[in-house]
Amino acid sequence: MDGKRDINILAIESSCDETAAAVVVNGRSIRSNIISSQIEIHTLYGGVVPEIASRKHIERINQVIASALDTAEMTLDDIDAVAVTYGPGLAGALLVGVAEAKAIAFAGRLPLIGVHHIEGHINANYIENPDLEPPFLCLVVSGGHTHLVNVKDYGIYEILGRTRDDAAGEAFDKVARAIGLGYPGGPEIEKAAMAGDAEAIGFPRAKVSGCAYDFSFSGLKSAVLNYLNGCKMKGIPVVQENVAASFQKAVVDVLTENAMLGVDHYGAKQFAIAGGVASNASFRSAMEDACRKRGVQFFYPSPVLCTDNAAMIGTAAYYAYQAGRRDDWTLNAVPDLKLGCRQADK
Ligand code: KG4
Ligand code: ZN
Repeated sequence: MDGKRDINILAIESSCDETAAAVVVNGRSIRSNIISSQIEIHTLYGGVVPEIASRKHIERINQVIASALDTAEMTLDDIDAVAVTYGPGLAGALLVGVAEAKAIAFAGRLPLIGVHHIEGHINANYIENPDLEPPFLCLVVSGGHTHLVNVKDYGIYEILGRTRDDAAGEAFDKVARAIGLGYPGGPEIEKAAMAGDAEAIGFPRAKVSGCAYDFSFSGLKSAVLNYLNGCKMKGIPVVQENVAASFQKAVVDVLTENAMLGVDHYGAKQFAIAGGVASNASFRSAMEDACRKRGVQFFYPSPVLCTDNAAMIGTAAYYAYQAGRRDDWTLNAVPDLKLGCRQADK
């Protein structure tokens, strides 16, 4: 790094059902990325139970952080700053990470940097794509968010469109549950869809009036439920794979179409995807094709960096660190934190 000293960031993520810690060097190089998933516990209840999530974070967080430092072959003495997701997410779950980060930063006399969870997802794209620099457009599709974002510069975001109701991942989870698949629904639907016919059922592609870049998935979810009810009433057997494939195609079509409206309007040269749904292979290939047709460079993170992890938080924190941004001991969990809105602005 031009003779400059490396910047090592210890990052913590606990906004939902993964307890995660990572050490990231100079923003784009992962030294460790430890993720302790609670999925097997929440699967028993068909979704994330917030109280259980907080307790499990408390049980696991110290071990996960120790493991991140061990794997990176570092101690706190090697760390330059402690980063943590402080919103949005489940209040109790976020609090565990924020309290832990504050304690470590205070004890180690290290700077503290609070990171927006969605900013983390967007920044996951920098890790494996050394060429990617802002400006670019990014479609963030996770369990809680569906945002089309104009990434104007490091740490500077403009939201162009968002979901009016369910997030894309949430729709995957709800439809999976309705057709008898497990939690989280996205990977289960993707697997079932491989054996199904995506043209079998004509589910709706919702258009939202008023904003071309906004999304709506609740009508699609209702259409799937109505279809299932109709089959039941008529005594027609439901072909799970066909429902999965037709539903997935409907989501992918809407996401891709809105994304390309943004590309055409803004004349974007680079497009990235992020969040749990970005690990869906049929979504990726639809986006890749659409971008290729327009001569737009397409970026996506590896599946492990699409779903929740702390490396992406470390990357976002690095750019905040370089911009001189620091938090103080009043940093708190903000469950409904808005992108581009610092804690003090709320
Ligand atoms: O980003 P993430 O790990 O957590 C949030 O910030 O919400 O995203 C989790 C969401 C879940 O709704 C899950 O069903 C969905 O991402 N997901 C997928 C796939 N893998 C995870 N959706 C579609 N296809 C997948 N392969
Ligand atoms: Zn997430």
